[in-house]
Amino acid sequence: MQLRVALRTGLKNLVEHHVPSADLAAELLLMYLLNRERAFLYTHPDLDLSDEEVHSYFQLIAERASGRPTQYITGHQEFWGLDFEVNPAVLIPRPETEHVVETVLELISEQRLARNGSYRIVDVGTGSGCIALALASELPQASLFATDISAAALEVAARNAARLGMDKRVEFIEGDLLAPVLNPEFLGRFDFVVSNPPYVARAELEYVQREVRDFEPRIAWGDLAQGEEIYGRLFPQALQVLKPGGHAVVEIGYNKKEAVLRLLNEGWTETQVRPDLAGIPRVVTARKNG
Ligand SMILES: C[S@@+](CC[C@H](N)C(=O)[O-])C[C@H]1O[C@@H](n2cnc3c(N)ncnc32)[C@H](O)[C@@H]1O
Repeated sequence: MQLRVALRTGLKNLVEHHVPSADLAAELLLMYLLNRERAFLYTHPDLDLSDEEVHSYFQLIAERASGRPTQYITGHQEFWGLDFEVNPAVLIPRPETEHVVETVLELISEQRLARNGSYRIVDVGTGSGCIALALASELPQASLFATDISAAALEVAARNAARLGMDKRVEFIEGDLLAPVLNPEFLGRFDFVVSNPPYVARAELEYVQREVRDFEPRIAWGDLAQGEEIYGRLFPQALQVLKPGGHAVVEIGYNKKEAVLRLLNEGWTETQVRPDLAGIPRVVTARKNG
């Protein structure tokens, strides 16, 4: 079967199964199978695929049509220009989460501080390690710590650190929120606490895409009655580990702005909300008094 025919047939199948961004998925799966860049698909439309390749491609298409996200099939997702291994133990990094990384860099430049300062940063609920590793790639002298309650997620994060050559830069620690660094060695020692924590309420989860509901790890979404509970536990802990003047930088859900701002009262100043590219309030920052 010619490449173009396989691609067209794969796409048709995905569309029939209501797969979002079906054209992109059809291409990505063929690129993955052939181990080729997108340009190859469009410069070799007449290429004859072997029977084995055709069979394998339609197997991948069937898997995607069943709802399994493309990234769990290919095992990869790009974040901040870096290639991350992903599997069902970790949330697939989202483009909007890049705003957390961007915000930390903006706060550093707004304070006229240098990129090569010796910042100490902790990423809470690191998942694939995407935020911590993106920050490590931008801040060459920073010491990064990353916590997660899921040992399986931390294994993926550690592999990503090694693959990206940054395993000496980030210390991954299993535990509940900031508990792993709530000890005398670290109290009042961090410049930034960053996090994209679970923030989707249990009832809301029923309405998200099946890719998210049925395939991404439940622990990544928490099992939350309201959605904002984690922030309520995280902010008081962040006040303990941050230096005076240190910042909390957290991603929030589209409907969480007011609830999260209400939790940033005593001990915090300069609270700001930054929108994502769609104009949705996405990142909240607050500075510890002092
Ligand atoms: C929404 S995901 C974000 C993952 C990653 N930071 C990202 O942006 O793609 C939340 C992460 O928090 C972790 N998590 C959930 N509850 C936690 C807790 N109580 N303490 C630490 N991590 C937790 C989950 O295992 C998951 O990896």
